[in-house]
Amino acid sequence: MSPLNSKLIKTQCYMDGCWQDAADGGRFEVLNPASGERVAELANAGAKEAKLAIEAAHAALPAWRAKTAKERSQILHRWFRLVMDHQEDLAQILTAEQGKVLAEARGEIAYGASYIEWFSEEAKRVYGDVIPAPAGDRRIVVIKQPVGVVASITPWNFPNAMLARKAAAALAVGCTVVAKPASETPLSALALAVLGEEAGIPPGVFNVVCGDDAEAIGRELTAHPLVRKVTFTGSTAVGKLLLKQCAETVKKTSMELGGNAPFMVFDDADLEAAVAGAMAAKFRNAGQTCVCVNRFLVQEGIYDAFAARLAEEVAKFKLGNGAESDTTMGPLIHGKAVAKVKEMVEDAVGKGAEVLMGGGVSAVGPEYFEPTVLINASAEMRIHAEEIFGPVVALFRFKSEAEGLALANETPFGLAAYFYTQDASRQWRVGEALEAGMVGINETGISNEMAPFGGIKESGSGREGSKYGIEDYVEIKYMCMGGISGS
Ligand code: SIN
Repeated sequence: MSPLNSKLIKTQCYMDGCWQDAADGGRFEVLNPASGERVAELANAGAKEAKLAIEAAHAALPAWRAKTAKERSQILHRWFRLVMDHQEDLAQILTAEQGKVLAEARGEIAYGASYIEWFSEEAKRVYGDVIPAPAGDRRIVVIKQPVGVVASITPWNFPNAMLARKAAAALAVGCTVVAKPASETPLSALALAVLGEEAGIPPGVFNVVCGDDAEAIGRELTAHPLVRKVTFTGSTAVGKLLLKQCAETVKKTSMELGGNAPFMVFDDADLEAAVAGAMAAKFRNAGQTCVCVNRFLVQEGIYDAFAARLAEEVAKFKLGNGAESDTTMGPLIHGKAVAKVKEMVEDAVGKGAEVLMGGGVSAVGPEYFEPTVLINASAEMRIHAEEIFGPVVALFRFKSEAEGLALANETPFGLAAYFYTQDASRQWRVGEALEAGMVGINETGISNEMAPFGGIKESGSGREGSKYGIEDYVEIKYMCMGGISGS
């Protein structure tokens, strides 16, 4: 049976343990970015369904948070195993709705599952504290409790992993979840719900509301007083809007927003290591990740050699449908994304950048952008200020460490940053000076479940993964125990 016909394909919302249509019977289409063909037609939920899902999550909260940490841990661990047992089917669904190549889709399923596994373990380590009290007859005890109903709003670029890492942390500590996946890629989220149910997640604990009116659903999730936390991955513009909406009911928030990652190459870098790191950090998901390199800042002594070697590697890409085995880069998510990347390249060229390779929409089809290398980029160009979200390398030149650092930090964003140098002192100096939540030093593979993923400045707040990731889903309660005699 084709995975696209398997038990994992669901076309209704998952609320209170039931598969449900929208009350008005509305439907919306999910298209394959590689071909524009329809992958599925789904129930088009709106604010009304979001409200029902919130109420279901609220009703399910007391029993879920009352389970022992070990019971929640075991359910999450079963979910992790089921996801890995279905890795291939989930990857094919992901490629069909998102467009990334199958090898990357398989990687994303394992990446998402690693967070479920991690938080199944962390569930048992939500420790409190006992603090010395100011008086002998008192004790200060700190406990950590689940925040309550969590609304999770996730993007189309990692439809499995972004939801997995939010939901697993929330469920681990005893929160319940209403998930709103991007309307471009809801099938991966619904497939996770199928496996969650099989793993034993009780009705109402994990709900998925899908629909193409993100604004209406988002408004309900951010306004409803029963939602106590909103966790979002997406653009800074939408994140700011959600923050404003959450202010009304003073919700806790975690925001994983846009980036503008610098990748610095110093004259003393290992050239081959820098090129390999650059390829991985620029072209993952065709450049559509928020930690993708946006600006390559290269010191003048190594600039030409780095540009030439990088162009050699970029020339090797084979564009095509991600489901085909020889494809190494898929399409962008849709025509609007292609148009934006094209405009940014044209802006750069108009302001003096030189095209070393690529530079336009690919002959493969209108959803494909050519892997592109631009040299002589400068701070006046849009690519310096805005997230490209496409397969475009822009090379800026700098002379001194101080000049390079100033350029790197000249952005309101602060998600990821990378740099290559073999000078041990510089590794510390630059690592500490870069304004980013995550810094890769002679390494670009920074994303994993054991490390805290998140940004500073306008790239957001909160951390996902690691021991810190759990903190985003708990409230601290201090209890002062009085009247203790005999001490
Ligand atoms: C993202 O692009 O939002 C996430 C990328 C990652 O987890 O590495």
